[in-house]
Amino acid sequence: MIPAAGRGVRLGPGAPKALRALSGTPMLVRAVRAMTASRAVSLVVVVAPPDGEAEVRSLLDDFPLAGDRTEVVVVPGGATRQESVSLGLKALPDDVGTVLVHDAARPLVPVDTVDSVVAAVRAGHPAVVPALPLADTVKQVAPRDAADATAPETVTGTPERALLRAVQTPQGFDRRTLDAAHATFETAAREGDGATDDAGMVERLGVPVVVVPGHEEAFKVTRPLDLVLAEAVIARRRA
Ligand code: C5P
Repeated sequence: MIPAAGRGVRLGPGAPKALRALSGTPMLVRAVRAMTASRAVSLVVVVAPPDGEAEVRSLLDDFPLAGDRTEVVVVPGGATRQESVSLGLKALPDDVGTVLVHDAARPLVPVDTVDSVVAAVRAGHPAVVPALPLADTVKQVAPRDAADATAPETVTGTPERALLRAVQTPQGFDRRTLDAAHATFETAAREGDGATDDAGMVERLGVPVVVVPGHEEAFKVTRPLDLVLAEAVIARRRA
């Protein structure tokens, strides 16, 4: 499943992020191809912006998949990422047992990363995330005082960097586990306390989540500089 309903505000003004082109091909189309590159993937559910279902459908028609093996369906998304994934889950046929959730904003994830997530789920892990160690030291800060938004933030702690991981997608799940997590935390999402990734909800259920190695090319295209990097990676692949 590819949640692609985000507006991409941090990328600057323009079309919804997933619909923007990277070296001539929309980010979403690249993300779909990154999933269908895996032999394990037989269906892709794209979660479109709530008012952009038709636009996404025609975009995918304009850039057909090379092989015909994988079915692609489009459903409308919601106001938060979590809500969008919930809506996508409801569109899955009953016989689907393993679900990958992949951000449209990570269009360049290599197929080996996808396959290693699938392999770990099939080996019996109910929740699997690809992740990388961090280059930066991370600080925790105190919530800002709403009354004084210009005051400098105060550091409250420094987690041990060696024990931190930057988590990517696709995240892989046993379908029943992911369904249970979304059913349990649906209200939290509506109240604005939604999860920023699916594994986070599974953790809150008390189900173990395991890590497989991520890949530096699976980075999330979020800010304008990421577009430059993504186009450089595409040019290097073509060379
Ligand atoms: O906002 P963030 O970068 O965490 O978004 C990650 C992914 O979730 C993107 O692919 C984005 O399109 C998707 N998303 C969504 N529905 C929303 C918000 C984000 O499908 N309401």
